[in-house]
Order: sequence, then structure tokens, then C-alpha cells
Amino acid sequence: MDTVHAPSPRPLNVQAPAAPLSGAVTVPGDKSISHRALMFAALARGETHISGLLEGEDVLRTADAMRALGATVVRTGPGAWHVTGRGIGQLQEPADVLDMGNSGTAARLLSGILASHGIFSVMTGDASLRGRPMKRVTDPLAATGATFLSRVGGRLPLAIRGVADPAPLSYRLPVASAQVKSAVLLAGLNAAGTTRVEEPVATRDHTENMLRHFGAHVTVEPLGAGGRTITLAGRPELVARDVVVPGDPSSAAFVLVAGLVVPGSAVTVRGVGLNPLRTGLFTTLREMGADLRLSNERIEGGEPVGDLTAIAGPLHGVDVPADRAPSMIDEYPVLAVAAAHATGPSRFRGLEELRVKESDRLAATVALLERNGVTVQVVGDDMIVTGTGGAVPGGGVVETRMDHRLAMSATVLGLAASAPVGVDDTAFIDTSFPGFIDLMNGIGAGLGA
Ligand code: S3P
Repeated sequence: MDTVHAPSPRPLNVQAPAAPLSGAVTVPGDKSISHRALMFAALARGETHISGLLEGEDVLRTADAMRALGATVVRTGPGAWHVTGRGIGQLQEPADVLDMGNSGTAARLLSGILASHGIFSVMTGDASLRGRPMKRVTDPLAATGATFLSRVGGRLPLAIRGVADPAPLSYRLPVASAQVKSAVLLAGLNAAGTTRVEEPVATRDHTENMLRHFGAHVTVEPLGAGGRTITLAGRPELVARDVVVPGDPSSAAFVLVAGLVVPGSAVTVRGVGLNPLRTGLFTTLREMGADLRLSNERIEGGEPVGDLTAIAGPLHGVDVPADRAPSMIDEYPVLAVAAAHATGPSRFRGLEELRVKESDRLAATVALLERNGVTVQVVGDDMIVTGTGGAVPGGGVVETRMDHRLAMSATVLGLAASAPVGVDDTAFIDTSFPGFIDLMNGIGAGLGA
């Protein structure tokens, strides 16, 4: 039994609202960018001001960790944080175990930073995170000269003896993972020489963009069809720079899919981050016939941002290629909900990485749909959802398995189901989308009523 991290379960019974969803909202800041802003600011010299920071549990763990490593991290208002950094190679040894909660991003990115400082540290996390693979980062990071001790299979808790003079790495990613890419690049910050990462398929590039923003020299070149080679010049002077965090497209996804599947709805999410390496879901929904309208496109804090409006209407099945997966990796559970409402089958290809998320999301998404009367199959690493062409039957109880995105996907499913849908625990939603239920109620969801 997990005593430290298990918040009291918050079950929810979801039923279709009496009236369509309508209104305009903003969602919390982007989780990926928020983690990086805190980490990079702690490595920069001077005071960084961050606005729009996601104040979810995952990011708060990163804030605590950077404090434990000697940075000054202060909250000055909602989403407004000031970080006074120590400079590359200057983090101090933490006095206690670093607890990364539910967050794979925090644990994996931080391991790159810890490996490249001459300090000893130990990381742990909740039961979900302690079950997730870390060898994907510790294997390449060991070539810096750092040593790692972990549980069997490279699982947390993980003890790291870092090195003050790490060797620069040259690494080709065996899995499409922005977290692994970022861990290698972050270790390269304190290495004398050039760090190089090859990714056969492009993954989210927030690390590259933000390192440049703080003054590092990063180059990106095309590699084959759709891949990239990234190089980082070691030991740059990172200088404090303000960061504006856009709304998280992965959070907006739940609101927008709800708007598409609850008949008669029209909902707008303002200020959604539209980095092209994050927008695979929106492309896919449009291919399904979704009426998804983009307005007010602009650049904010160096990232493209816009307002997205979802108008409910019929959807049809879609075949999503495997090479799109990195640009929508966190969106498959809610895409499966949209596909359950669509007419005809949908096939999502190449989902092997879903097995190692906060839960085994492939198995958990299948169970979510099956419990609610939707036919779904896994063939190899592909998921095939047979759409009902309207309201799904519902009537099942969904196990969320310490996984925020399953809890929100199950909630969206219930809003357009014929019979109520039970969600066993919504507490983990706070890791990435605090205020989700209130926000949904603000557009008419009637949750928990
Ligand atoms: C993230 C990368 C993705 C994603 C996660 C956040 C990041 O993981 O699932 O929620 O911030 O780099 P992988 O890169 O391991 O696929």
C-alpha cells in the first residue's frame, strides 16, 4: 500500500448533461514546458520569471526538487514563479531523497541533470512511477561516467553518483521519447564538448527551444524521413530569461473532445499551445470530420498559440499512422473516446510506448471502452476501435490506475454515454489539470451534481 502518495480516492459518477456544453475557457499551463522552465531556470544565472506555470502535482515535485538542489524557487501569484538559478554544474547535493511523485518527465529529465553534477542523489516516486522503466535514461547516461543503482529492471528508487566532468554523449534514440532525448541533452550542458542526439522520428522539441531561449547553442538538422539530429555545445552560460507558458494542448484535448461528442455543444479553449510536434490529435480529429476551428493564432513566449473551438457533429473512423504517435502520445485515451462515438472502425498504429506511461494505457484504454459497451481490439501494437456512430452505451465503472489521463478520458466518455459511467478515482487529475471538474462544470458538464 502506498502510504506517502496515494491521495484519498475521489470517485465520480458521470452522466450526460441535460443541455449541450458551451462557453470559453483557458486550461492550465503546458506540463512539459513547466517542468523545463523550472529546471533550466535553476541551471541559469540570475532570476527567471515564469508566468502561466502549471501548478499541478507533477510540476510542484519539480519545484521542490530544484529547491532541494539549491535553487531559490518562489511562487509570487497564480502561475507566477521566480527562480534564482545556481549556474550549470553548481547544483548542491540534496539532503534527502527527491520525491518525483507521479511524474516520469520530472524523474527522467532530472536524472540527466543529476548525472552531470558531482553529487550523490536518490530519486523515488509513487507506485505508478516506481513501476516505470528508467533504464532508457540510465543506460545512455552511464556513458557520462555517472553510476546508477536501482531496483530490478532499472526501477525507482534510483541512486545516482553523478560526475562533475561528464563525458559528452552521442546517442541514437532506440525509442521515440522526448524525455530520453532531453535527459541526454541536459547531461550535455555540463560536458566539455558537443553532445549529439539522433531521433529517427521527431519528438516534442521544448528542450531544444528553451535551451536556446536561455542562451545555449543548439542545432537541429533533418535526419532521414521525419527524423532529426540535435547537437548541443557543452558548458554554455545559461542566462535567466522570462518564460511564458502556453495552455497545455494535452489538457485542452479533453475539453475539446467533450465539445465534439456531447450533441449540440460549442466550446472554445483559449491560448492553446500549438507547437507542431504536439498537435497530432487536432490533425486526427479533423481527419475524422470534426469541426475544430482555429482563431487568434499568435506567438507567445516563443511558441505558437491559438484559440480552438470545437463544434459537436458527426465523426467518422480514421487510420492514424505510427509516425504520428510522438505528436499525440498522451492523447490516445481521449482519441479512443472520440473514435467510440464515430461511425465505423478507427485504427491507431504503433502504440507500444503507451504500455509504459503512468499506467499501461493500451490495456487501460481497452478496459475503459469495453466496460462501457464499445468493441475494441489490440492487434500487435495497434488499437482498433469500432465506433458506435453516436452515444456509447456506458454503464461501466472505469479503473483509472493512478493515471490522470484515464480519469479525464473516462469523464468525457460519460458525458456522452447513454448510461452513467463510474470513475473509480479522479484524484490523480491534479497531477496535470487541477480544477478540471470545476472547469467542465463551468461549461455545463454538471459533474458531481
Ligand atoms: C513528455 C514526453 C512524453 C509524454 C510526457 C511528457 C515530455 O513522454 O508522454 O507526458 O515532457 O518530454 P516520452 O517522451 O517518454 O514519450
